[in-house]
Amino acid sequence: MRFVLQLTHPAASPAPPTLSFRVDGHDVSVADDGASLLEVLRDRLGRRTPKDGCSPQGQCGCCTVWVDGAPRVACVTPARRVAGRSVTTLDGVPADVRGAWADALTARGASQCGFCTPGIIMRLAALGARRTAPGRGEVERALLAHLCRCTGWATIVDAALDVLGPTGHSDAVGPGAAGRDLGAAGRRATLEGGVPQVVGPGVTCGGGGFADDTAPADALVAVPDGRGGWAVADTLAEARAATAKVQGRNSTVALRHPVAVAPGDWSLTLRTTFVEPAYLEPDASWCRPGGEPASPLANGGAFGGKLRSPVAETARRLADHHGRAVRVVLAREDVVRLGPKRPPVAAGVAADGTGVLRVARTPGSGPLGAWAAAVARAAPGLVVEEVAVPGPPVSADLRAAGWAEATVLMAALDARRRGAVGADEPVTITSGAGAAVTATVRGSGTLVVEVAAGAVLDETVLRSYVLGAAHQALGWVRSEGVAVDDEGAVLDLTIRSFGILPARAMPPVEIVVHDSARPAVPAGDTVFAAVATAAWLAAGLADRWPLDPGGPP
Ligand code: FES
Ligand code: FES
Repeated sequence: MRFVLQLTHPAASPAPPTLSFRVDGHDVSVADDGASLLEVLRDRLGRRTPKDGCSPQGQCGCCTVWVDGAPRVACVTPARRVAGRSVTTLDGVPADVRGAWADALTARGASQCGFCTPGIIMRLAALGARRTAPGRGEVERALLAHLCRCTGWATIVDAALDVLGPTGHSDAVGPGAAGRDLGAAGRRATLEGGVPQVVGPGVTCGGGGFADDTAPADALVAVPDGRGGWAVADTLAEARAATAKVQGRNSTVALRHPVAVAPGDWSLTLRTTFVEPAYLEPDASWCRPGGEPASPLANGGAFGGKLRSPVAETARRLADHHGRAVRVVLAREDVVRLGPKRPPVAAGVAADGTGVLRVARTPGSGPLGAWAAAVARAAPGLVVEEVAVPGPPVSADLRAAGWAEATVLMAALDARRRGAVGADEPVTITSGAGAAVTATVRGSGTLVVEVAAGAVLDETVLRSYVLGAAHQALGWVRSEGVAVDDEGAVLDLTIRSFGILPARAMPPVEIVVHDSARPAVPAGDTVFAAVATAAWLAAGLADRWPLDPGGPP
């Protein structure tokens, strides 16, 4: 492991001038050294409810705070600009207002990992202060400044209408935080997320226990240096300044489908491209010398994208090396450059279900044996061929990787055999664990999803995960992809460039949930495959995804 050490010594340079402003009702003074408001709030003042999902891109909304009562994205607001003004984080919002939002979001299942939620509350609460009883369209427009990867949006809009409507609270969907078995809710969330998760108002208010929030204030900070090593410094700003990176961009380069379909007489073909898992909380960990590193998976599974993240082991090694606590943080751009992508595929499937499923293998990728095994479980007639192409690392860990591709192909082939291609054609998928999902994209655009996944445990949470998986599936088929250049370097480095569907691009989703006495089984991956198939059928089984790379986002 190589690292660059840049520790500062305060006496070495004259102290910079200071600037003063108010934060959550308290006067503060900080060095006027060009830092962003987010860096000042999080790293110098210890305010951890504004989250860093993409700084300095200003595109995810996770860092939203109020400046003189108006919502501002703190990561692109220079601290200097708020001199003499009043800044409010979620912690400084009046307790009754914060509580109303937390309860409504919990009652609607509108927060899963909870990383995006504090920023969303700040935006929507500001909307409520400005407008009396805003409509659905106004709420969706306000949400354009935000991204959520978990929830699929509709529950957030519903919670906003609860709070901003005539009653000012959520009583439309049964029990909220009070009176509900949040333990059972957490068990369903854990089942769906694949890692221990809790559900409740504390999570919606930013208390998911994220590693970058819990690190000791005096920890050294390590960030990728852009040359394969780590830059280590006293502060995040200094560590980032010591790297060789140039801020990323939202490219306009066309997506590529780097794998060709094998020659053959196929009934069905499909080519896909690199897809970013796009979990909102960037990888982070911290560790004390001789201690155990904090998990980068505090309250969400990151769709499998962090299973091989280097941050925890790096924190451990650097802490032991320096004899001090070390916090390791990936910026959004690091996650995009270094993190695993869903591998592009090229499929050719004959009428009898045999065929060739080619999968891209890129330099630096982990083994894809598990990917091929997952394909074999769903479609034993498909031969998997790995094709070496330039590109970012790909992974067999990502959501239902291999199984989803093979399952979608087999379900689509079955539909083609039956002449059931188009909208209004239901697709039923059953998982090995026993979840059964039927998805239909109606001609009107409405998506209907029917789910049986054993004991429901908590219907609100199950619905939330169903909606989130549906949102991700629609994005996979319709809009998501990551552009790479001839050498395989990622060009789409900003979080808005991945094609994640915003709130206003989500169709209405009707969810029917069946309870049973059988043990609870996860439903999300099955929903993902069923909705992807239904969306593909509705698009006439076009031969490549995404269908509309320049679409709604
Ligand atoms: S962290 Fe500021 S907008 Fe994403
Ligand atoms: S709850 Fe929105 S990103 Fe996880």
